[in-house]
Amino acid sequence: MFLLSSRITGKREVGRGMWVITVDAQAIAATVRAGQFVNLGWSPGPLLRRPFSVYRVNGDEIEVVLKDVGTGTAQLLSMRLGDEISCLGPLGNAFSLSPSGSNQLAHPARARRAGLGSGAGKSIALVSGGLGVAPMPLAAREAHALGMTVTWVHGARTEGDLCSESDGDDVIWATDDGSRGFAGNAVAAAPDADLVLVCGPNRMLAAAAARWPDAQVAVETYMGCGTGVCLGCAVPLVRGGYDRACKEGPVYRAADVDWSALPSHLSYAITA
Ligand SMILES: Cc1cc2nc3c(=O)[nH]c(=O)nc-3n(C[C@H](O)[C@H](O)[C@H](O)COP(=O)(O)OP(=O)(O)OC[C@H]3O[C@@H](n4cnc5c(N)ncnc54)[C@H](O)[C@@H]3O)c2cc1C
Ligand code: FES
Repeated sequence: MFLLSSRITGKREVGRGMWVITVDAQAIAATVRAGQFVNLGWSPGPLLRRPFSVYRVNGDEIEVVLKDVGTGTAQLLSMRLGDEISCLGPLGNAFSLSPSGSNQLAHPARARRAGLGSGAGKSIALVSGGLGVAPMPLAAREAHALGMTVTWVHGARTEGDLCSESDGDDVIWATDDGSRGFAGNAVAAAPDADLVLVCGPNRMLAAAAARWPDAQVAVETYMGCGTGVCLGCAVPLVRGGYDRACKEGPVYRAADVDWSALPSHLSYAITA
């Protein structure tokens, strides 16, 4: 885990009100894996850092995707190129793409050194709703490095709310109102695959759990510290008790989470 003083180096709009911010963060860019997140802080800013999945990595830079849903995200989006931002990460557990579950080969460089192959011929579906697209470009990069065939499934309420960027061998769009692609949600639009990764509103993850109990889902909770100390990110488990999304998560086997006890009203969810 690194604590970096970084600069904002880029900003682009990828959907209605949906922005990608690029940040210079070499040590995090070199080590982050799909599903992990960074906790961002800035001054003047909120007392607590705000967690964001890493969207893409380009050289020494990382990207996050966000919308203005409150005080912190509004401030982030009003910052200018060159402004300083504090990046803590990479945090949390990544998606596991290798057959062994160890994910050792999911890092592109390691996969290349190993001659790829461990995922060759396997299919993976990356299923996202709204801002749940956040961890998917990195997941696509890792899956391609492993030789997998990637189906990218992305849904939103309506065409303008879709994220315009996609990284699949096949791409399936879904909109609730049928304005683009499949009329319905991304879970319903997705094909079955050897491996399924899902990120989006918690109610969407619950639907994914019903269809694919073994899917890996990246859950959304409130967070405080992001490092396992404050217990502010509790995720209720089917076996009883709680995990910390920032430490044991945010990636879980879909059927392991007690979806009925996890809030489905968070704003990150509502924007999907
Ligand atoms: C592991 C993880 C990864 C995330 N990745 C992304 C991402 O890639 N892109 C993105 O846009 N958002 C992401 N989020 C959610 C993001 O952290 C919240 O949108 C952000 O904290 C809201 O901050 P704010 O100051 O703008 O909102 P606030 O002014 O604090 O609150 C506005 C609204 O957002 C809700 N909210 C506050 N904090 C959170 C939170 N941590 N999660 C969900 N809802 C919250 C509040 O209930 C309130 O309704 C992620 C959250 C987690 C836990
Ligand atoms: S956010 Fe503090 S323990 Fe997870």
